[in-house]
Amino acid sequence: MTLNEFKKKAAWAALDYICPGTVIGVGTGTTVFYFIQALSAVKKIIYGAISSSNSSTVLLKKYGIKVLNINNFNSLDVYIDSADEINYQMQMIKGGGAALTGEKIIAEISKKFVCIIDQSKRVDVLGKFPLPIEIIPMALTYISREIIKIGGNPKFRKNVVTENGNIILDVYNLHIQNPILMEDKINSFPGVVTVGLFAKRSADIVLIGKKNGVEVIKK
Ligand code: A5P
Repeated sequence: MTLNEFKKKAAWAALDYICPGTVIGVGTGTTVFYFIQALSAVKKIIYGAISSSNSSTVLLKKYGIKVLNINNFNSLDVYIDSADEINYQMQMIKGGGAALTGEKIIAEISKKFVCIIDQSKRVDVLGKFPLPIEIIPMALTYISREIIKIGGNPKFRKNVVTENGNIILDVYNLHIQNPILMEDKINSFPGVVTVGLFAKRSADIVLIGKKNGVEVIKK
C-alpha cells in the first residue's frame, strides 16, 4: 500500500468524529484533500465548514460543502487536520503547506483536534521536518539571527507569500526536546506571526492509517 492509501484511510475514519448538524473545522494539505472528498459523501449531515486556507475553501466549495466565516463562531466541536510531524505527546509540527496561521486559529477555538496521518508522520522528537514560521517581511534578518542563536538553521521559503501577506522561514537542524518552551520562545520574537509548533494546543485524537486499518490514539 502507498502513503496516499494510508492517508485516505485515516481521512475516512475521521467521519466518525463528526456530529450531525454541526460546523466543522477543516485543515489543509494532501491528507485533508482525502478528508474533504470523504466529507462530501456526508455533506448533508453537517451544517457547514470553517476552512483554514484558500486551497481548502476551493475544494470544499467544489464538493458542494458550505464554507462559513470563522468570525461568526466562538467555538467549534471538532477540527480535522493533518500534521507534518507528531510526537507521542500529540504535539505537532505543521505549516508545510504555509497555512499554519489559519490552522492554529481554528485549532485554538475547537474543542477537539482530530489529527489524521499516515505512519510516516510519527516521531519521537520533533524537528527533523523543518519548522515553519510565518513572519512579517521586515523581521527576516532579525528573526533569522535569533533562530541561529537557539541552534536552528533558518531558510527563507522562496516564492511563497502567505494568505496574510507574510513570508515563511523554515528552520532546519532543530531537535525539539521541549516543544512548549520552544513554542513560547519563538513566539516571543517581535515579527513572528505564527510558529508551526502545535505544542500548547496539541491534538486530542490521532488517527493513523495503516495496512490493516486505522489506529486510534486518544489523549
Ligand atoms: C498545511 O499548512 C500543513 O499544516 C499540513 O497540515 C501538513 O503540512 C500536513 O500536510 P500533508 O497532509 O500534505 O502531509
